[in-house]
Amino acid sequence: MKILISEQIAQKGVEKLTQEGASVDIKTNLSREELLAIIGEYDALIVRSNTKVNEELYQKATRLKVVGRAGNGVDNIEMNGATKRGIIVVNTPESNIVSAAELSIGLLFATCRNIPQLHNRLQERVWDRSGLKGMELQGKTVGIVGLGRIGSLVATRLKSFGMNIIAYDPYISDSRFKNLGVEKQEKLEDLMSKCDILTVHTPKTEETYGMIGKDQFKAAKKGMTVINCARAGIVNEAALIEAMKANIVKRAGVDVPEGEPEPTSPLLDVDNVIITPHAGADTVEAQDNVGITVAQEVIAALRGEMVPNA
Ligand code: MLT
Repeated sequence: MKILISEQIAQKGVEKLTQEGASVDIKTNLSREELLAIIGEYDALIVRSNTKVNEELYQKATRLKVVGRAGNGVDNIEMNGATKRGIIVVNTPESNIVSAAELSIGLLFATCRNIPQLHNRLQERVWDRSGLKGMELQGKTVGIVGLGRIGSLVATRLKSFGMNIIAYDPYISDSRFKNLGVEKQEKLEDLMSKCDILTVHTPKTEETYGMIGKDQFKAAKKGMTVINCARAGIVNEAALIEAMKANIVKRAGVDVPEGEPEPTSPLLDVDNVIITPHAGADTVEAQDNVGITVAQEVIAALRGEMVPNA
């Protein structure tokens, strides 16, 4: 079992692979050309979000049987290409959800209280809070787009701050909304018009890419805060910037800017936007969980055993 790890995973995951008898190469700084040149030697490839696993790669990956995504989103993996070649794709949908939910809430706090801006001023030895008055969360309405694993963790945590929680998710049953104590919105525009804070927790798919754009911001409550701790592009960046210029959106917190891992997003130059470099799952706990889980799954798939997240 020859396995290539092209992006960093936790040491515990690497140990698991070697304990199971795999031969593991960790090469996290490969250029695309270098990756394509060596991928033909491997039975399995383990990636996070930066490695594009696509037709170009599959054509060179003549031995490849398994792709392990150390994380949840598989938007960097072309599924059709894998399926037609019988390559199994496994991911770790449960392993980092707490960390992702906690970063969403962290960005919400940082954004609503201007914490990075206040810190930056003070670090420049300027004691000045002017223009940076925050907003209390208690009594405000938060609108969640995507009430799946992460969205529901965010909902239950924000309830404890006395917030009113509404959500839009056509794939979640009414009883689940009821159990979570979240008010269901039939239309995205209804949610946009009611919430003070919008927070996005859908995977990036053809259906969700660009789902919050110009038209949705037209329906939005004036002065809202936008948090996107899911993927870039679910909230259209150009539309978000326009909405900020028009004072429809007052502030935003974003975990994954367009063009990752290149820091090229125009959002980086907009005031009142806080951006982190796809750090949602970057905690010791989540990375240990993810590393161990992906290692177990890749080994099971290579051995032809049952894999829960294939
Ligand atoms: C995920 O999809 O699991 C997260 O975005 C974290 C990651 O990509 O590492």
